[in-house]
Amino acid sequence: MILQDVFYFLSPVRLLEQNYFLMNKSLLINTIQKIENACFSNPYSRDMIETDIQKSNTVILLASGSGRILSPETEEFSKNEIIAAYCLIEIISQEQIMELIRVAVIPEFRKRGYGEKLLRKMEDLALEKNMDRILLEVSKINSSAIKLYEKMGYMQYHTRKSYYPDGSDARLYQKILRTA
Ligand SMILES: CC(C)(COP(=O)(O)OP(=O)(O)OC[C@H]1O[C@@H](n2cnc3c(N)ncnc32)[C@H](O)[C@@H]1OP(=O)(O)O)[C@@H](O)C(=O)NCCC(=O)NCCS
Repeated sequence: MILQDVFYFLSPVRLLEQNYFLMNKSLLINTIQKIENACFSNPYSRDMIETDIQKSNTVILLASGSGRILSPETEEFSKNEIIAAYCLIEIISQEQIMELIRVAVIPEFRKRGYGEKLLRKMEDLALEKNMDRILLEVSKINSSAIKLYEKMGYMQYHTRKSYYPDGSDARLYQKILRTA
C-alpha cells in the first residue's frame, strides 16, 4: 500500500463515500411499505408496491427527514438518513398526462412542507417531460390532502359518487400545465 492509499483508507472522504449508496429494490420496497403502514388504514401490500415500482412508466420520489427530495433510482442516500415521505407518479406519455397515485408523509413529519415539496418536484418533472396536465383523485373526506392540492392550484373537475370502500366520494382534480 503506498502512502496515498493509506491516507485515503483513513480519510473522512472514504468514510463518507461508504455511507452513501443507491437504494436497492428490496430496501426501496421496505421503505415504502413502512410509510404506507404508517399513513393508510388500507396500505399497499408488498406485491402492489413491487408491481408499481417495476412499471416502466412510474416514478418514485422520496423525502428524507431533513426535507431533501430525492429520486431513489439516481440519487444516493445516506445510511443515517430517515425517509419520511414518498410519492408515486404515473406517466401516460401518449396523452401527455402525469398522474399522482399516492403521496404520504409519516405522521411525525407532517406539516413541515414535505408533501408540498414532493408535489413541486413532481411538477418540475412534468414540465421537463412536456406533460400537459397533472391529474389526481382524493376522497372527499381527506381534508388535509384536499387543502394541500388546492393550495397548489389543483382544480376539481369531476366527482365519482361513493367511489371508495368507506362510501366516500372521489374528487378528481387537475392542474393544467400548458394548453395545446
Ligand atoms: C396529505 C399529506 C400528504 C400532507 O403532507 P404534509 O407534508 O403534512 O403537508 P405540507 O406540510 O406540505 O402542507 C402543505 C399545505 O397542505 C395543507 N395541509 C397539510 N396538512 C394539513 C392539515 N392537517 N390540515 C389542514 N391543511 C393541511 C396546508 O394548506 C399546507 O400549507 P400551510 O402549511 O401553508 O398551511 C399528509 O397529511 C399525509 O401523508 N396524509 C396521509 C396520506 C394521504 O392521505 N395522502 C393523500 C392521498 S394518496
